[in-house]
Amino acid sequence: MTNNITALVTGANRGLGRRLAAELVARGAKVYAAARRPETIDLPGVVPIQLDITDPESVRRAAEIAGDVTVLVNNAGISTRANLLTGPIEDIRAEMDTHYFGTLAVTRAFVPVIERNGGGAILNVLSVLSWAHPPTSGAYAAAKAASWAMTDALRTELAPRGIHVAALHVGYMDTDMVSYIPADQKSDPAAVAEQAISGLLAGDAEILADDLSRRVKAQLSTANKAATTA
Ligand SMILES: NC(=O)c1ccc[n+]([C@@H]2O[C@H](COP(=O)([O-])OP(=O)(O)OC[C@H]3O[C@@H](n4cnc5c(N)ncnc54)[C@H](OP(=O)(O)O)[C@@H]3O)[C@@H](O)[C@H]2O)c1
Repeated sequence: MTNNITALVTGANRGLGRRLAAELVARGAKVYAAARRPETIDLPGVVPIQLDITDPESVRRAAEIAGDVTVLVNNAGISTRANLLTGPIEDIRAEMDTHYFGTLAVTRAFVPVIERNGGGAILNVLSVLSWAHPPTSGAYAAAKAASWAMTDALRTELAPRGIHVAALHVGYMDTDMVSYIPADQKSDPAAVAEQAISGLLAGDAEILADDLSRRVKAQLSTANKAATTA
C-alpha cells in the first residue's frame, strides 16, 4: 500500500520528522521532506521542499508544489519550556502559533490536495503532554492539548471525505528538543516512527508509542469514570 503513497512530512530535517520521512521512504512512498531551511535535508530518496508552518505564503506555496500528496504528517514543533505565569508571552504565543495554528494552516492547505487525489490520511504528532500538563511546560502542554482537540474534531469532519486523521502521543524521545533529558529516559525516535506509520496505515485513531503515554491515557479514562459516577 505504501508504494502508492505520496507523503509530506513537516520538520523533516531532524529529530522525529527525519525518522518519519525515512520510515515512509523505506516503505516505498514518495516523500516530500519539508523544512524551514530545505538545504538542511540530508535524507536520501526524498524531495526537499521549503515550508515554515507559521508562514501563510510558505504554506500556500508548498501545497501548490506538492500537489500529489495523499498523506500529510504534521510533525514540526518547538518547545520553549515557558511557564504560563512567568514565561515570555512571545514564547507562549509561539507554541500556539506552531503546534496549533501552524498545524491547522498546513492541514487546511493540504485537505483539498488530498481530496483531489482520492483521499488519504493525516498524522498529527502530539505528545503525552496533550494530557499531562506540568507547569514547567505550561505553554507547550496547552498548545498540544489544543492540537489534540483539533485532531479529534478534524477526524470526525474528514472521515466522510475519505481522509483518516490519526494522533501520535509519546513521551520523551532522543532528539534535540529534549537534549537536557538523560538518555535512559528517552525512546528511540526511529522506533516511534515505525510504530506511528504502522498505526497510521492500519487506520488507528491514536497511536500511543510508549508506556508513559499508555499509562497517562488510562488514567484519563479512570478520572472520567470517577467523574461520571460521582
Ligand atoms: N522530543 C520529544 O521528547 C517529544 C515528545 C513528544 C512529542 N514531540 C513532538 O515531536 C515533534 C518533533 O519534535 P522533535 O523531538 O523531533 O524536535 P526537534 O528535534 O527539535 O525538531 C523539531 C523540528 O520541527 C521543525 N520546526 C519547528 N518550527 C517549525 C516551523 N515553524 N516550520 C517548520 N518546521 C518547524 C524544526 O525545524 P528547524 O530545524 O528549522 O528548527 C525541526 O525540524 C514535535 O511536534 C514535538 O512537539 C517531541
